[in-house]
Amino acid sequence: MHSVYVFDAYGTLFDTGAAVARHAAVLGEDGTRLAEIWRRKQLEYSWVRTLMGDRDRNFWALTEDALDYAFAKMPSVDRAMRETLLEAYRDLDTFEEVPQTLKALKDAGARLAVLSNGSRQMLERAIRAARIEDLLDRVFSAEDVGRYKTAPEIYDLVTTTFRLYPKAVSFQSSNRWDVAGAARFGFHTVWINRGDEPDEYLDCPPGAVLPDLRGLTSLL
Ligand code: LAC
Repeated sequence: MHSVYVFDAYGTLFDTGAAVARHAAVLGEDGTRLAEIWRRKQLEYSWVRTLMGDRDRNFWALTEDALDYAFAKMPSVDRAMRETLLEAYRDLDTFEEVPQTLKALKDAGARLAVLSNGSRQMLERAIRAARIEDLLDRVFSAEDVGRYKTAPEIYDLVTTTFRLYPKAVSFQSSNRWDVAGAARFGFHTVWINRGDEPDEYLDCPPGAVLPDLRGLTSLL
């Protein structure tokens, strides 16, 4: 068992696909493609902003920029859905196993944290809605550093705050690129491969792979 368990937020605790899925009927077939472009662009913007040294544009602004690009790219999707989709992104569903898994880890004596690119405001709202705030010892936001994952400074927030060596930390993410960054930093990593995606970043392998968070408790 590790002394600290750290969770990525979007895609790991909160279901990013839900924002579009909830409105699938109105969005039509192109809605799935819109969602894909939205997510890919949001991430691209985070990496490019970090590389260019821009510390000011928070993840909510990038989420809006990415959605605007996705609409421009998919003119068949009704732009009137913009506010509805952004509102849905503010209130994402939490994956169902999240509260009970976090509680089991907490009961076993672990400290728990979230480490996310999300802005403070986005994270606070999602964590409150998921009713997991009492289980979390810390919430680390990239907004506090002004850089996005996979910049090592982000992962370093955890080790500096808890005064631990990286290998004492178990880091869970559904994003393989995030697992690569965390593994390179020295964390023990668990790739939550919810989408049954093929492996990549083969020189930065995860310590374990699980289909969802449930199996974490059996690794204790
Ligand atoms: C996060 C996104 C990148 O929560 O999943 O950091």
